[in-house]
Amino acid sequence: MLLEGKRLLITGVLTDDSIAWHTARIAQEEGAEIVLTGFGRGLSLTERAATRLPTTPDVVELDINNPAHMEALVTDLTSRWGALDGALHAIAFAPEDALGGNFLYTPPESASTAFMTSAFSYKTLAVGLLPLLQAAGGGALVTLDFDNTQAWPAYDWMGVAKAALQAVTRYLARDLGPHHIRVNAVSAGPLATVAAKNIPGFVRFKDVWAERAPLGWDLANPDPVARMIAVLLSDWSPMTSGEIVHVDGGFHAIAAGPGDGTGQSV
Ligand SMILES: NC(=O)c1ccc[n+]([C@@H]2O[C@H](COP(=O)([O-])OP(=O)(O)OC[C@H]3O[C@@H](n4cnc5c(N)ncnc54)[C@H](O)[C@@H]3O)[C@@H](O)[C@H]2O)c1
Repeated sequence: MLLEGKRLLITGVLTDDSIAWHTARIAQEEGAEIVLTGFGRGLSLTERAATRLPTTPDVVELDINNPAHMEALVTDLTSRWGALDGALHAIAFAPEDALGGNFLYTPPESASTAFMTSAFSYKTLAVGLLPLLQAAGGGALVTLDFDNTQAWPAYDWMGVAKAALQAVTRYLARDLGPHHIRVNAVSAGPLATVAAKNIPGFVRFKDVWAERAPLGWDLANPDPVARMIAVLLSDWSPMTSGEIVHVDGGFHAIAAGPGDGTGQSV
C-alpha cells in the first residue's frame, strides 16, 4: 500500500466534503495511521466527520495562530509516535471584507489575517513539526493552493495570500531539504467545500472550468486532489520538492476552451 506504516498529521478536516477528509480517507485506505486537527467552533464538526472515516482517528484542537495549541499538538504527537512521516496543511481563512470584490478597500488588518492564517501558517506548522520529522529521518509536507497566476473575481486577498503560500512552499523546500523533508503544494481546481462556498461568486468557477478544463472537472469530487496529496506524502515522490502540482483537469494550461469557436476537436 502507498502509505503503509506512515504516521501522518492531517489538518483542515471540517466536514466530509473537506479536501482533508478525503485525504484522510485515502491515507487510511493506503495503510497510514493518522491524527486530525480541528479548529475553534468547528471542532465538534471535525469530530463528527472523523467518525465517518474507515477508522475513527483522534482529533486534536489546533488554532494554527495559537502557539500554545501548536506546542500541545507536538507534545501529543511526541508521546503518541515519537516521530512523524508527513503532514497536510489544509488551512485557509480570509475575513469577509478581504473577499468578494472589496479589494481596493480591504483594511490592512484583514489582508494580514488572510496572510497569517493561509500562508505564514505553513511555516508555523513546518517549524513546529520539524523535530518530529527529523526523528523519522525526514518526511513530506503538502499544502493546498488555488491558482493565483491570474486575478479572479471575488478571490481578492485570498489570491494574494495563495501567491505568498507558493513562495512559502519554495522557501520551506530550501530550508528543510537538508533535513530530508520535501515541501510541496497541490493547486486544486474548485471544489464545493465550506471554505469555497464562503467565497462570494464561487459558483462562477463551475462554468469557467466546464469550458476550459480539457479533462473536465467535477466540483463535487475531491478524490483526484486527495490522491495527488497521498502521492506527495508517499515514498513515490522522493525527489520532488518546492513544486506546485496542478490537479485541475488541465485547466491551468489552456487559455480558452474549444467552445470559443477557435479550437480544434477530433
Ligand atoms: N475548495 C476549493 O475549491 C479549493 C481549491 C483550491 C485550494 N483549496 C484550499 O484547500 C484548503 C482546504 O480547504 P477546503 O476547500 O477543504 O475547505 P474546508 O472549509 O473544508 O477547510 C478549511 C479548513 O481550514 C481550517 N482553518 C481555518 N482557520 C484555521 C485556523 N486558524 N487554525 C486551524 N485551522 C483553520 C478550518 O477549520 C477548515 O477545516 C484551503 O487551504 C483552501 O484554500 C480549496
